[in-house]
Amino acid sequence: MVKNHPLAHHRPQWKTHIGFLLAAIGSAIGLGNIWRFSYLCYKNGGGAFLIPYLIALFIVGIPLMILEIGLGHKMRGSAPAAFASISKKWEWLGWWQVIFVMFGIVLYYSVVISWCLSFLFFSFKLSWLPDPNSFFFNQFLMASSGPFDIGQLRTPIVFSLLLVWLFNWLIVFSGVTKGLERANKIFMPLLFFLTAIIVFWGLRLPGAAEGLKVYLRPDFSRLWDIKVWMDAFSQIFFTLSLGFGIMIAYASYLPQKSEIVRDSLIISGANCAFSLFAGFGVFSVLGYMAHTTGQPVTEVVTESIGLAFVAFPKAISLLPYFAKFFGVLFFMSLVIAGLSSSVSIIEAFTSGLVDKFHYSRKVVASSLSIFGFLGGIIFATQSGLYWLDIVDHFLTQYGLVVGAIFECILIGWIYKAQRLKEHINHYSSWKLNRWWNVCVKIVIPLSLLVILISSLIEELTAAYGGYPRLSIVLIGRDWLIYTLFFAIIVASHPWKIEPGERNLT
Ligand code: PHE
Repeated sequence: MVKNHPLAHHRPQWKTHIGFLLAAIGSAIGLGNIWRFSYLCYKNGGGAFLIPYLIALFIVGIPLMILEIGLGHKMRGSAPAAFASISKKWEWLGWWQVIFVMFGIVLYYSVVISWCLSFLFFSFKLSWLPDPNSFFFNQFLMASSGPFDIGQLRTPIVFSLLLVWLFNWLIVFSGVTKGLERANKIFMPLLFFLTAIIVFWGLRLPGAAEGLKVYLRPDFSRLWDIKVWMDAFSQIFFTLSLGFGIMIAYASYLPQKSEIVRDSLIISGANCAFSLFAGFGVFSVLGYMAHTTGQPVTEVVTESIGLAFVAFPKAISLLPYFAKFFGVLFFMSLVIAGLSSSVSIIEAFTSGLVDKFHYSRKVVASSLSIFGFLGGIIFATQSGLYWLDIVDHFLTQYGLVVGAIFECILIGWIYKAQRLKEHINHYSSWKLNRWWNVCVKIVIPLSLLVILISSLIEELTAAYGGYPRLSIVLIGRDWLIYTLFFAIIVASHPWKIEPGERNLT
């Protein structure tokens, strides 16, 4: 290996260990933790959902987190660079992961952050009164009749989307230490603080106990339903930002002396503990709402998006005092949680382009932010909600899962899990045993395969969400196919310096 290649560029490094941890936790904790988790718990048998969730965490989440952090640390490169260092034939996989997340997930994710930002402002006047449901769908989104009825641009959403991308740009443009590390050092403690206020406030409201009962009361009969397991596994992926290429990129900025196993456990544990904790806040508030309106809690819980933008606003306006302040706290925590996730994927893609083509990071970050804003506009039209739902379903249910199966085959079988394990154990004081190899080579790919096949069967039996089949094919499936083409094209371009010869010092 040629060290200090004359063309090699200097690789940034986290200034502090806690800076890395907070950035990785910031990526993991996102919009998904606050409302998606609570809703899934409720939908899938309350406390009983925690069983598949924890199983998915232990057999897929944590081993894969260790794999991604270990790989980034070993190869000192973004996902495309890391995979290409193993085999040039597999470089496309790294690009595909960062591309479908950058040109898919983050486009609509930023739009959801922009809704949160708008609702943050609406909180000052409780603008959603008197009817939060009609306010969200008819006045704010002005939702059209279906995905092909694009309608008009929603100017207020475009405007807050612009603000969101300005934040994204500012953070990624400023670099790893001055941007990501610094922002997360402010964001994360603030998020924990805001969430703690929400939870303790919520727990003291009358009716909170009823809400918690619905949240945690286990209904074990639901465990026989394969869909519950599918939800648990895909939630673990999404929530831990695995299969996005993010953790690989973040770990590539670690110093040589690093505790890979311990850090992976801290990141995964902090993320899941946060979800559980936030769920207490969400359900106490719903319990309170049920209590005041005299409805059962099960009636006040709505579909995932409705939970944050319809049920919660309604509950907030029922609060006897400081209702507006509570609204501001809630939506502010969503904006912060969202931003610390969206910047992480922009970073993962930027780092790939900088590794391969040696473009200037500032130019890449700026162009990506412009593209990101423009690309997100389709989700800011009157049909945005439907597009968002379809793209989200395909990218998370298929993109992440297929990518991760390939990732396990590549690392487990071609590179050999044992080799990466030796690297990880060399640096970590907490050692991995043979069980990890088994997970990477067999348990993870097999369980993901089962999930994948079940999702496909379901897809063929009924069109997702009741949308017209054509829209599902053109928007959902094709989104995945185009990003794959794009990945293959980028992968076929020559490297400025061959991956094996990059500066690894
Ligand atoms: N982990 C994030 C969440 O739970 C998901 C995410 C990460 C989305 C990075 C976009 C970019 O919300």
